[in-house]
Amino acid sequence: MKHLIDPTDLTKVETDQIISLAEDIISNPDNYNEKMRHRKLATLFYEPSTRTRLSFTSAMMELGGNVLGFSDAKSSSVSKGETVQDTVRVVGCFADVIAMRHSIEGAPLAAAEVSEVPIINAGDGSHSHPTQTLTDLLTIKCELGHIDGITIGFCGDLRFGRTVHSLIKALSRYNGIKVVLIAPDELRLPDYIKQDVCDRMGVAYKEVSTIEEVMGELDVLYMTRVQKERFLDEDEFDRVKDSFVLDANKMSLAKEKMAVLHPLPRVNEILPEVDADPRAAYFRQVRNGKYVRMALITKLLEWKNDPEHGMPEHEGEIIDPALRCTNKKCICNNEKVKPRFHISENGTVRCWYCDSKVK
Ligand code: CP
Repeated sequence: MKHLIDPTDLTKVETDQIISLAEDIISNPDNYNEKMRHRKLATLFYEPSTRTRLSFTSAMMELGGNVLGFSDAKSSSVSKGETVQDTVRVVGCFADVIAMRHSIEGAPLAAAEVSEVPIINAGDGSHSHPTQTLTDLLTIKCELGHIDGITIGFCGDLRFGRTVHSLIKALSRYNGIKVVLIAPDELRLPDYIKQDVCDRMGVAYKEVSTIEEVMGELDVLYMTRVQKERFLDEDEFDRVKDSFVLDANKMSLAKEKMAVLHPLPRVNEILPEVDADPRAAYFRQVRNGKYVRMALITKLLEWKNDPEHGMPEHEGEIIDPALRCTNKKCICNNEKVKPRFHISENGTVRCWYCDSKVK
């Protein structure tokens, strides 16, 4: 059975099928308004959300289906100590597909291990956010007409930004992608993404420290939030913060045809004066999130019993029974989930659930 926990759970072909279906839904919405009649989506949101939860809800409604779930785990039996795995076993008795957001990294993967219905990761801590990635890919395709060959700048918090990590992974499977990393020293992209994704997949990348020096090269500028609390030194935050704010002056340096994306919510990293610029695509991106989730739900249920569309074959290993994940926010340090690991090509041992480097 196909779940979506990480963007690479979908093959490149499956990813493109979802994007193509989303484009068809945009063009012919009436063809899809009965597709999920009598089907139910459960949204289990253990963490706050506006876009992801409401776009899943809206997506299922537009497909003619129904939605149940919770947006505050305190109102469920989670507050009595029910585990993630028991919760999805129960909810799977009532729903055909489950979308889960959790602050604990790896929780959706642990859920998928026992679930009888497809699990969609709607964001797990700083780890992964694959439906945002599908939204981003669809938006790039809609705005530019293609994904291959783009130069994309990622700006802001590239260290903790799960949407950035997931999108770089997904883009690495397209041809001729160039990545420009625009971040303060404290928030640079982790080395393991540069090595395991960019170097391994042949994605060209460079690191710069201002938007201005690269703006004219970009087809897409992907903005993210720079949070003060990520800095050890408050003066350092004050010194760099304006370099990572997009305003009309910086937009004047951009190509005529380019797209500004942001997973939102924004705080002050894109000034409101940019919103009226036709290249500001972030609110169209939100709308695309509904269409791509409509396509994803449809495809996951179509693929559910098709052995051609299973999960990738690799599984985590118990390398040493004494080995533990070092990430306090990992599911295997919060619930009774057996720690398992995978070894990347450069020999680094990573947690199977949260991808944290263990040794
Ligand atoms: N982009 C995103 O995940 O937004 P929410 O946190 O509002 O769902």
